[in-house]
Amino acid sequence: MPPSKTEPVLIIGAGVFGLSTAHKLATSGYTDITVLEKDDRIPSRFSGGYDLNKIIRSEYIDPFYTQHALNAIRQWQTNPLYQPYFRQVGFLNVVTGEANEVVRNALAKYNKSVAENPAFDGYLVPCPDADHIRRVAPQFTGALPGWKGYLNGLAGYAQSSNAMGACFKACEQLGVKFKLGADGDVAELLYQPGTKVCVGARTKSGAVYKASRTIIAAGGFVANVLPSIAEQVTAICWGVSHIQLTPEESEQMRGMPVTTVRDIGFFFEPDPATHKVKICYMGGGYTHTAQNNGKSIPYNSLAESAYIPAEDVKQTRRMLRMAVPHIAERPLIDTHLCWVADTDNSDYIIDFVPESDSSLVVLSGDSGHGFKMMPIFGDFVQDLLDANTQKLARWRWREVKRDAAGTGKQISWRASAIVDLDSTPRAKL
Ligand SMILES: Cc1cc2nc3c(=O)[nH]c(=O)nc-3n(C[C@H](O)[C@H](O)[C@H](O)COP(=O)(O)OP(=O)(O)OC[C@H]3O[C@@H](n4cnc5c(N)ncnc54)[C@H](O)[C@@H]3O)c2cc1C
Ligand SMILES: *[C@@H]1O[C@H](CO)[C@@H](O)[C@H](O)[C@H]1NC(C)=O
Repeated sequence: MPPSKTEPVLIIGAGVFGLSTAHKLATSGYTDITVLEKDDRIPSRFSGGYDLNKIIRSEYIDPFYTQHALNAIRQWQTNPLYQPYFRQVGFLNVVTGEANEVVRNALAKYNKSVAENPAFDGYLVPCPDADHIRRVAPQFTGALPGWKGYLNGLAGYAQSSNAMGACFKACEQLGVKFKLGADGDVAELLYQPGTKVCVGARTKSGAVYKASRTIIAAGGFVANVLPSIAEQVTAICWGVSHIQLTPEESEQMRGMPVTTVRDIGFFFEPDPATHKVKICYMGGGYTHTAQNNGKSIPYNSLAESAYIPAEDVKQTRRMLRMAVPHIAERPLIDTHLCWVADTDNSDYIIDFVPESDSSLVVLSGDSGHGFKMMPIFGDFVQDLLDANTQKLARWRWREVKRDAAGTGKQISWRASAIVDLDSTPRAKL
């Protein structure tokens, strides 16, 4: 039986997946949607998307995600809701001369995947050496030692917090209700006694929200709300920092492609409004184990996540010295850990929770590549509800144990293991 559009729907989490889903369902005629969010504002500072910007790249080694990313980019280019926040500056995908074999192979696979896909005809510029890179990124003043790769012009970045804010406003206009702060911070799900059928949620303030359909979109925090998912999802984070430029310096770097240095990290064109350059060191990621239940969950407070490890500072400066040495020694500001829900094979989880009789849906496992899908993510959820089953095996709930060492299988970015934050020194900035 197709779902009734008047049924009360509860969405837990107003991050990327939650907002996209609320917007899609409201647009397609659902009339009773309530979103619960633990922050007292949206865009939520706990969201992995709470940032100046996120890469909107279209290449994946796996053509399944490439097709979705291409569909998403089409929306970023044309959908009036999202288009104002998209900058199609291109995506420069490179390695340094110090990159190891695993990373070089990953670059070669990306390169092959775009070269063989006609969707990218006319968008690719091979960059076999530093001189070629300077032609597509004249903003780089550094030596680019041993750098090589390619530029894909069918990509760029989005101003992610701003895009989430716009989606939030659009949802409100469509009649979606939002509860924030203690009134929106879910303490527990409510079940029909003796069953796994979910009937809503109770928040930290004690408020109870009843729903015939509850959709969990709690990002890295998902195991707080749904402990049984901890077997297949790990909360991991990366450190983010920024460098403040003057308006003149910012202008000099205008139009710089989003640059991913596969063996170190990535950085962006200066934000046009704040003139800040955002930088991220992409090691194997860090995790944190909650004291109370032994599960992998982000720090509870924003203050605890407001730092980056010492290694991140070292690697950030190393990358900038090679490309933009004139700013490489500047203070690193607005440092914070950015949390995601990671699965072993980087596949999303978009499915009903087993034995919930379709009452409980979980949207998780973004694995650090979910933001770009924001304009189309709600479509994935609508498809699930309409079909009343997840037809795509790869997005199903998995009854598997996670590879605890986190060494990964064939994950392109995972060249090193996940490290526990407690075992790594903090940066003194
Ligand atoms: C450093 C970094 C770089 C990234 N770069 C990219 C990129 O370049 N491109 C890309 O596509 N993706 C990128 N991502 C990934 C992207 O940010 C995530 O895929 C995306 O945010 C996942 O969306 P989500 O809705 O699952 O989780 P989130 O966006 O994190 O949202 C979860 C929401 O749930 C709320 N919540 C949690 N617990 C509760 C509770 N108990 N009650 C109520 N609310 C709750 C949180 O406050 C939050 O608002 C990056 C992530 C990081 C960390
Ligand atoms: C990318 O592919 C092109 C075309 O097949 C090839 O000429 C180039 O050497 C490749 N570059 C890398 C970095 O693998």
